[in-house]
Amino acid sequence: MHLFHRQSGELYCEQVSVGELAERHGTPLYVYSQGALSGRYRDLSDALEPLDHRVCYAVKANSNLAVLRVLARLGAGFDIVSEGELRRVIAAGGAAGRCVFAGVGKSEREIEFALRRGIYCFNVESIPELVRINRVAARLGKIAPVAVRLNPNIDAHTHAKITTGTYQNKFGVPFERVEEACARAARLKNLRLRGLQMHIGSQLTKAEPFEAAVKKVIPLARKLAARHGLEFLSIGGGLGIVYDRALASGSPAWWQSPPSRGFITPAAYAGRLAPLLKPLGLRILIEPGRFIVGNAGILVTRVEYVKKTGVKTFVIVDAAMNDLIRPAFYDAFHEIVPVSRHTNLLVSSDVVGPICESGDYFCRDRPLPKVRAGDYLALMSAGAYGFVQASNYNSRPLAAEVLVNGARSAVIRRRQRLPELWAGETFPAWLR
Ligand code: LLP
Repeated sequence: MHLFHRQSGELYCEQVSVGELAERHGTPLYVYSQGALSGRYRDLSDALEPLDHRVCYAVKANSNLAVLRVLARLGAGFDIVSEGELRRVIAAGGAAGRCVFAGVGKSEREIEFALRRGIYCFNVESIPELVRINRVAARLGKIAPVAVRLNPNIDAHTHAKITTGTYQNKFGVPFERVEEACARAARLKNLRLRGLQMHIGSQLTKAEPFEAAVKKVIPLARKLAARHGLEFLSIGGGLGIVYDRALASGSPAWWQSPPSRGFITPAAYAGRLAPLLKPLGLRILIEPGRFIVGNAGILVTRVEYVKKTGVKTFVIVDAAMNDLIRPAFYDAFHEIVPVSRHTNLLVSSDVVGPICESGDYFCRDRPLPKVRAGDYLALMSAGAYGFVQASNYNSRPLAAEVLVNGARSAVIRRRQRLPELWAGETFPAWLR
């Protein structure tokens, strides 16, 4: 089910021409395929069928209300990290009772809001946080459901900025201190210890780190489940996606055809983990973000200028690092393809944005089909951590977002208007 494809040289999202969307709505434009994101959700959920499981989509990856509604209607739970994300889930029609609340810095206000709304569980990252949640719950006359997030100290073999499960990272309770944290939670009167959680990192492309973490945690989980009557173990998110040649690889889609270029697929993931997890007898939660939405979205941009310096060819486009920061921030690779393919002539190009920073690039010295001003390009696999990490740097408005479903398309976030950029700003009395 590869839902970005070409028809007579033109890029399509499902049955809708991407070029026509760009003409109608302008660029930069995020375009998402509803079929792709629901397909990913179902593939993963189906693969985990042997387990009593719940897929809690990580809202941080793409928090557009329409995206959340699609997943809520498929029965997803949600992994949230702020009051804002919880309010989004609720606004989209999701239930707080299917949300887990992660993050090292939950404020009293956020805890209170989540408790009042009936959150499924707080994934707690420290003893001071347990104490705080207990205090807020006591004040409200409630019992707060908590799980202890443990740090298994396992290297996920991914980019340093998205590694979370080693002792160099701020996340979770160190493995050796988890029993103590659980004992503390059990003694606090307004807490109910419901589970254990871990998340070792993002964009993991192999099963081994997941397997190593699960193997390390199982004996402890078994002991603590017997001692405290735990209900679930969450093994976090982190399933990686293909970023290179995601379009060119065509169908059948890589995640459905193992061994598929060494990448972990839902079947391989579940095949390795389910036999280990099943005997625990606990409900298993997973918190995928990127895997669900990453390949389901693209960022469409227009070429403004082609600038040849004698040393380089700079393709200057109207999207920039403020729209998609992943290349600048993580040296991330996004495949770049022309929306209309009219030549096979390749030119070594740097695709760059208009922002005044040398780091504002999408690729460097990459052979790309020759383009002209006015052509559209698509940055592939931009559905996760794309729009959500956008900023207004250089006073650039946030891009619009469109959702495609079969032959239909709709704007799910209109382009930000320029006066909205300074709407919250005021002059101090002495400058009036
Ligand atoms: N659960 C927890 C507790 C997390 O911290 C994260 C991601 C997830 C689940 C979802 O991880 P995923 O399945 O998407 O890998 N901005 C970075 C990624 C940051 C991930 C943060 N935590 C990027 O653009 O690559």
